[in-house]
Amino acid sequence: MSLPNHGANPKHLTKALGLTYEEDSIDFSVNTNPLGVTQAASLQIDQLQSAIQHYPEPYAETLSRALSEKLNVNDNEVIVGNGAAELIFHLAHLYQGKRVLIVEPTFSEYRDACHANHCYIDSLVLHEPWKLSITDLEGRLESFDLLFICSPNNPTGTSYSINEMKVIIECAKRNGTKVVIDEAFYDFQLSKQSILNQGVDLNDIIILRSMTKMYGIAGVRLGYLMADKVTISKIKQFQPPWSVNGLAQKIGLQILNDEPFVEMSTKYLAKERRRVKKELEQIGFCISDSVVNFYLLSEPAKQDLQPLLEFLIQHGVIPRHTYSFNGLDGAYIRLAVKKEEENNQLLDVLRMWREKC
Ligand SMILES: Cc1ncc(COP(=O)(O)O)c(C=O)c1O
Repeated sequence: MSLPNHGANPKHLTKALGLTYEEDSIDFSVNTNPLGVTQAASLQIDQLQSAIQHYPEPYAETLSRALSEKLNVNDNEVIVGNGAAELIFHLAHLYQGKRVLIVEPTFSEYRDACHANHCYIDSLVLHEPWKLSITDLEGRLESFDLLFICSPNNPTGTSYSINEMKVIIECAKRNGTKVVIDEAFYDFQLSKQSILNQGVDLNDIIILRSMTKMYGIAGVRLGYLMADKVTISKIKQFQPPWSVNGLAQKIGLQILNDEPFVEMSTKYLAKERRRVKKELEQIGFCISDSVVNFYLLSEPAKQDLQPLLEFLIQHGVIPRHTYSFNGLDGAYIRLAVKKEEENNQLLDVLRMWREKC
């Protein structure tokens, strides 16, 4: 059995490694908000019945308009999807058969979606500390139609500064390449750094965001994409009507302006991230400079962390393996920042490992 390609799949991972899954294990492979679902997502029983019974708006028009107002873009420059994942597949469809460059290690769906749409795919693989060299990019971009870049990036948790991003976009523009910037984890940054409304023309970029992670609604599915109006109208031609279900549309409208929950979660997670990083570095692990709710852990001079992966699982901690990330190849594990008690359990297990090895 092969290892799962995504996190949040603890039983599959455990079984694939030939281990026994313990029901009280903590899933550190999932990268949604550990504080759970925002209260703002609650629906009254009559709202629930109505959302279940009736057809929703075919293209989530009301939610899309509300998002455009909040984001300060025109309402024909936004499209809502059944999770950001759906929109990644529509993008790949739009660029069917074209040449796509992916900055890796990163989220595997860009490659999978482009592969399903017969694109020619190549990657620019970064190594620690995960910085993109413009010289390398310039040398590669000429022949590509589309560039995928994720910031803050899954799985490293690192982000590009606005200036770095502008240089990348300028470089792509010189080469006639459109840049997709996946900001799925935008909300988790204390700085709320984004390329949106930074003077970059939406004709040159496509911005993706997910609402599933911060608001804890992965099962409901909700994401959106911002681009120029021509790109949006082309994507709308591929999107089936009612793709965003009625529950998702209602919940989306309710959580849209739930800034207190976002602020509370971000502050809590930033504090925990700093604390856990400091403790792990003190016991000799290397931790990526993450700005979000997960990070990469590695051990100096170790190329394959499978023994650590198994040790963690045997001690009730499920990490995200990195064999499926181009450029990581099992030399790292990705861990979520969770609630304080859960992080303490992780720290205890990693201290036991350190005493052993
Ligand atoms: C970088 C990135 N983009 C997009 C997605 C898809 O998010 P959604 O749940 O909104 O489909 C994920 C999910 O893990 C992700 O990591």
